[in-house]
Amino acid sequence: MEQNALLQLSHISKRYKTQLALKDISMTLRKGEILGFLGPSGAGKTTTIKIITGQLRPTSGEAKILGTDSSNMDASIYEKIGVVSDNSGIYEKMTVWQNLSCFAKIWRVSNARIEEVLRQVGMSDYKKQPAGKLSKGQKQRLVLARAVLHKPRILFLDEPTSGLDPSTAIAIHKMLLDLRQEGMAVFLTTHNMEEAEKLCDHVSLLYQGTIVEDGSPQEICLKYNKRKRYHLLLNGSSEEIVLEQTPENAVKISEWMQKDMIQRLHSCEPTLESVFLQVTGAPLVSL
Ligand SMILES: Nc1ncnc2c1ncn2[C@@H]1O[C@H](COP(=O)(O)OP(=O)(O)OP(=O)(O)O)[C@@H](O)[C@H]1O
Ligand SMILES: [Mg+2]
Repeated sequence: MEQNALLQLSHISKRYKTQLALKDISMTLRKGEILGFLGPSGAGKTTTIKIITGQLRPTSGEAKILGTDSSNMDASIYEKIGVVSDNSGIYEKMTVWQNLSCFAKIWRVSNARIEEVLRQVGMSDYKKQPAGKLSKGQKQRLVLARAVLHKPRILFLDEPTSGLDPSTAIAIHKMLLDLRQEGMAVFLTTHNMEEAEKLCDHVSLLYQGTIVEDGSPQEICLKYNKRKRYHLLLNGSSEEIVLEQTPENAVKISEWMQKDMIQRLHSCEPTLESVFLQVTGAPLVSL
């Protein structure tokens, strides 16, 4: 495995009976990195997470996690990862505290750590509440708390904020950035490109089981920024002017600047969403 790599996929393919769900996927997750797997419904995101976490065998290729082949994972690896997926596995009749305390015992984690994690996810006030009576966003936060309780080296999140209100989503984003600060690597899947742009150091755009583009959100957007445009607002006007980057327009903008006529000026780069459209001809979020 490459130095600093915590996770490495090499030429992974997965066939379900008749359908080829993943085609020759290769990628690397490094220490302290948030990697986003971006793609529409059915692209193969969950399949990828299941292969990496040893829940599914690839048809061909190799997935190495913390130096071990993912089809050979044992307890020592599971102790070092955290997984948040759709099937949350919360014990509905137990309180929030009891849910966490159960896992804390398995992982030999202190009560002080439970308190700390509850604070981080903003759930300290709900300790005594039965988990079955939590709202969707609160449940999601409990699942996240459980996944990071033992300070895993890699956290896997399948659609961490889907269906959550914006303020809960922002709280979860902040927590993920804090965890990265502490050195944790995060592998997340999403079809929310704003989330990816904001959080991810590296994104892979997945479409019909193939990685169609890969790099940092900035790198990818700049690469597709072939026709740079400037958006301008002149003094006394409420209508934005859009100009392409040409020598003539540069002269024009410079003249306006010298006469102090410009109220606002910014260059406009494509978003991941528009790149995805260009590469695949399909919108990132399928309707
Ligand atoms: N157990 C299975 N048996 C057969 N086909 C499957 C199975 N699981 C997934 N598939 C198919 O493989 C493809 C990829 O599915 P996957 O769940 O990985 O997509 P996804 O990117 O996670 O989508 P979503 O955003 O909807 O969660 C889909 O076309 C799906 O129908
Ligand atoms: Mg999925």
